[in-house]
Amino acid sequence: MTWVLLLCFFSANAQTDEFDDPELIERGRYLAIAGDCAACHTADKDKPYAGGYPMQMPMLGTLYSSNITPDPEHGIGDWSLEDFEGALRRGVGKGGRNLYPAMPYVSYAKITDRDILALYAYFMRGVEPLAEPDRRNDIPWLLRARWPLKAWNALYLKPGPYEVDPDRGEQWNRGAYLVQGLAHCGTCHTPRGIGFQEKSLSEKGKHYLAGGPVLAGWQAYNITPHESGGIGLWSQRQLEQFLKTGHVNRLAQAGGSMAEAVENSLAKLRDDDIRAIATYLRDIPALPGVGKEPRQQQGLAAENVIALRGKPLSGDIGEDTDGARLYLGLCASCHGADGTGSEDGYYPSLVHNSTVGAHSDHNLRRAIRYGVERDIGDGEILMPGFARELDEKQMNALVDYLRQQFGGRRGPDAPRPGEH
Ligand code: HEC
Ligand code: HEC
Ligand code: HEC
Repeated sequence: MTWVLLLCFFSANAQTDEFDDPELIERGRYLAIAGDCAACHTADKDKPYAGGYPMQMPMLGTLYSSNITPDPEHGIGDWSLEDFEGALRRGVGKGGRNLYPAMPYVSYAKITDRDILALYAYFMRGVEPLAEPDRRNDIPWLLRARWPLKAWNALYLKPGPYEVDPDRGEQWNRGAYLVQGLAHCGTCHTPRGIGFQEKSLSEKGKHYLAGGPVLAGWQAYNITPHESGGIGLWSQRQLEQFLKTGHVNRLAQAGGSMAEAVENSLAKLRDDDIRAIATYLRDIPALPGVGKEPRQQQGLAAENVIALRGKPLSGDIGEDTDGARLYLGLCASCHGADGTGSEDGYYPSLVHNSTVGAHSDHNLRRAIRYGVERDIGDGEILMPGFARELDEKQMNALVDYLRQQFGGRRGPDAPRPGEH
């Protein structure tokens, strides 16, 4: 709490008014974490909320997020509560300027008046003003006009804050409010239509959280409670643990943008909010996916490693293109020769692993190429990337081996190792 007060000191407009209430500011700070504003508005960890984070927009080019610190010149220090509310819930910034929907205002539209007020108080009085000028977007001038966004909003923006469903309990409603609104899970997990809109917006709820595009480079899975397509077989406890830590051994790990969502936002939420999110997620309409088998229940431990041990477990793989030997050389030191990970689960099992068993090998290739990194304050989780070690042929051979052995995608004639 003291640091909040200290930061207030920095504030350029430190007059006393309703926004100076420390409790309100603290609530706003928590809501900014739940909304993960930092994911896009903090490019440099030493300059929180100063913007400049690049985002690739399909067909448009590169967009840079804005400085939302209370600096009056470069940030939003001279914005009124109404200006701020307009940017968050209607996608219209100060002076009527339409924002690109890369800013998730279609989700934030659900934020209540009360929470908008707290967020405003936090950004005006709890955040340090930084005089960082906004970066110019890299968009061809022909496409720079913002008026078409008005038409986009007319089609896809559903205005109006979240309405409590009186037939459901308080926990369910809290979960729905967070998932649909502030925590904007659909930004990544809902597929997009031709207008870049979340498909559930144009097709009345169909497709909601049914698996999202590869915008940030990673594919966000179907997280509806469908047994094979989604996470229907996960228990409440497993889902809560995943959201809080990004890790449930023999189930799933959070890599890529989900690792960031866990690190910046979900790991810092109160247990009751995590419980609410999981409760709601387990109760939304279950939508099937492409795969017929649940991705987190695939594969078997390798038994034939002894025969393969012709090569020692060293990182020296040369030009080898045998998938099993590549696995032994590069991966087995952590994930175990049989693929079941370390005993304590720190190095996860690749058997019964949602990334290895997934229908698409997209995230598996990303994890191998770029590694996994996550830090939620109790020690860093780190897997190195192997982009430099593996050429394309070797990558394909390794991925084929992993998917067949640990991902359960074997041909009809392949021998079946024993159950584990
Ligand atoms: C997924 C990325 C993303 C997240 C999360 C996000 N923003 Fe943004 N935001 C953007 C982008 C990109 C822009 C710039 C849009 C443009 O230039 O049209 C923007 C613009 C804004 C603006 C307008 C600033 C200006 O100068 O015009 C405000 C205010 C804002 N965001 C506040 C927030 C707050 C508060 C949160 C958290 C509750 C948040 N944003 C979360 C991407 C994001
Ligand atoms: C910035 C994009 C992004 C946001 C926002 C996001 N996710 Fe994810 N999520 C992903 C990606 C990408 C993966 C896959 C990670 C991997 O394979 O390592 C994922 C994976 C998951 C999984 C694991 C699924 C599986 O079978 O492995 C769950 C559960 C999940 N997300 C829940 C959520 C919830 C709930 C929210 C909102 C509170 C959320 N996500 C918000 C990108 C996102
Ligand atoms: C130095 C130890 C180490 C090595 C070597 C290593 N990994 Fe990992 N791996 C990890 C850790 C740590 C994680 C993340 C665990 C977590 O998220 O909690 C991980 C996660 C994974 C995941 C899950 C990623 C996700 O997003 O769901 C896959 C798949 C994986 N590793 C495959 C491999 C493959 C294939 C190799 C060899 C090319 C390899 N690993 C080499 C330590 C290692």
